[in-house]
Amino acid sequence: MRTAVTAPSAEELKRQNDIMLKIKRINDGLPERPKFFINTFGCQMNAHDSEKIDGMLRQMGYLPETEEKKADFIIYNTCCVRENAENKVYGNLGYLKHAKKEKPNMKIALCGCMMQQETVIETIRQKYKHVDIVFGTFNLYKLPELIYANMKSKSQIFDIWDEHADIVEDLPMVRKYKFKASVNIMYGCNNFCSYCIVPYVRGRERSRRPDDIINEIKALAADGVKEVMLLGQNVNSYGKGLDENITFADLLRFVNDIDGIERIRFMTSHPKDLSDELIASMAECKKVCRHIHLPFQAGSNEILRRMNRHYTKEYYLELIDKIRKAMPDIAITTDIIVGFPGETPEQVAETVDVVKKARFNGAFTFIYSKRTGTPAASMPEQVSEEDAKKGFALLLDAVNPIVEELNTQKVGRIYPVLVDGISSDPEYVTGRTDDNTLVHFKGGKELIGEILDIKITECKTFYLIGEKIQ
Ligand code: SAH
Ligand code: SF4
Ligand code: F3S
Repeated sequence: MRTAVTAPSAEELKRQNDIMLKIKRINDGLPERPKFFINTFGCQMNAHDSEKIDGMLRQMGYLPETEEKKADFIIYNTCCVRENAENKVYGNLGYLKHAKKEKPNMKIALCGCMMQQETVIETIRQKYKHVDIVFGTFNLYKLPELIYANMKSKSQIFDIWDEHADIVEDLPMVRKYKFKASVNIMYGCNNFCSYCIVPYVRGRERSRRPDDIINEIKALAADGVKEVMLLGQNVNSYGKGLDENITFADLLRFVNDIDGIERIRFMTSHPKDLSDELIASMAECKKVCRHIHLPFQAGSNEILRRMNRHYTKEYYLELIDKIRKAMPDIAITTDIIVGFPGETPEQVAETVDVVKKARFNGAFTFIYSKRTGTPAASMPEQVSEEDAKKGFALLLDAVNPIVEELNTQKVGRIYPVLVDGISSDPEYVTGRTDDNTLVHFKGGKELIGEILDIKITECKTFYLIGEKIQ
């Protein structure tokens, strides 16, 4: 691995732009333009990185393809937060080995979080020689140079950095939706929760300058975007380390003032850094959606301490009380891990207790996955798969009836819904309420991108059925 040099962004980008032009000329000269397919694993951060990769590839003259097997250039943007995310990538790579035998000109690139681990790079060098280009999370913007190097040398190209260069602004980007967009406000994470690999693969926390963020959002609004999702691993610590004196609460107020933006979402919030000032700012800013994703991970104070989460069960429950007092209609969702090393059935019962007291509108529940290199991986008493599965089932039994009960209360009420696509039943469209509940209602694709008043008629546990108010 190589430590990045701090490159002046403008100069570096110009260099990459020049290479993009060279590649475009090469692709323009081919009888048919090569087609690309990006397979994205993991979180919204990765999904957003894929939008940047997409943008760069189109500028280089590649054409988007919706079916992986028809593509000439396949990119896997990988995740390593849990073992099964990695297994999926290895499984797919096995299949691609055969596909490439039939189509020898096919190019395969791997990038994203999983590539930041040395053991993974070794495995790819040894067992997956059919992969052409490998890069990491810190040097996405160098893709043109890497493609060009591979075109010239025809050999495997590895370029993994173990830290970030300057934050690179103004990469070309192709947004998945016209009317909603993600915006990075910070990169990396400093929290080192003892189970989590993200700080090792995404580097130290660094915030983007507020002007860069605001200008990006203004440009998005001018381009028809109504909803923005502000992204960071821990948005509540936004602003630390910047010359400007600014907090996340201030940033929300600035974004709230941008004309054309109608909804503001953000993720993820760490409970330990959620300030009273932020709650006040959320309550005051009318465009900030009434939804907060606030992972609590575990209910036992002993487990929380060993997870290095820096809060207690009591603190968490008081915090959500405070949030609900300030915004009674807010939906709170969470992440929960079961089977952390040493977790007893009594401690799982404490997690169930938090679920019952907090009454979450939704929860992502995960079985603990051992990540090499994290402190938890070497903790004694790893929980057996069988016990973890038992705990997982207990948790779902606690979470699901509450989600259903809260969603059932919405029947008969009217909610503004931002329509984002066609449902699996083509007579229906889907969208999200302000509090992020999924709604299906009868309608056609001309409604996509509109915010419409929908009367809720039925609850289907995790989503709602509604009808358009005439
Ligand atoms: N930065 C965000 C979330 C990052 S990962 C936050 O702190 O909330 C998303 C979720 O994956 C985490 O909230 C956690 O619940 C889960 N997770 C992370 N590492 C895990 C592991 N080793 N095993 C199981 N789940 C894990
Ligand atoms: Fe991982 Fe914790 Fe950072 Fe979230 S806050 S990314 S769980 S280390
Ligand atoms: Fe996201 Fe997975 Fe990386 S959750 S930050 S893509 S490890």
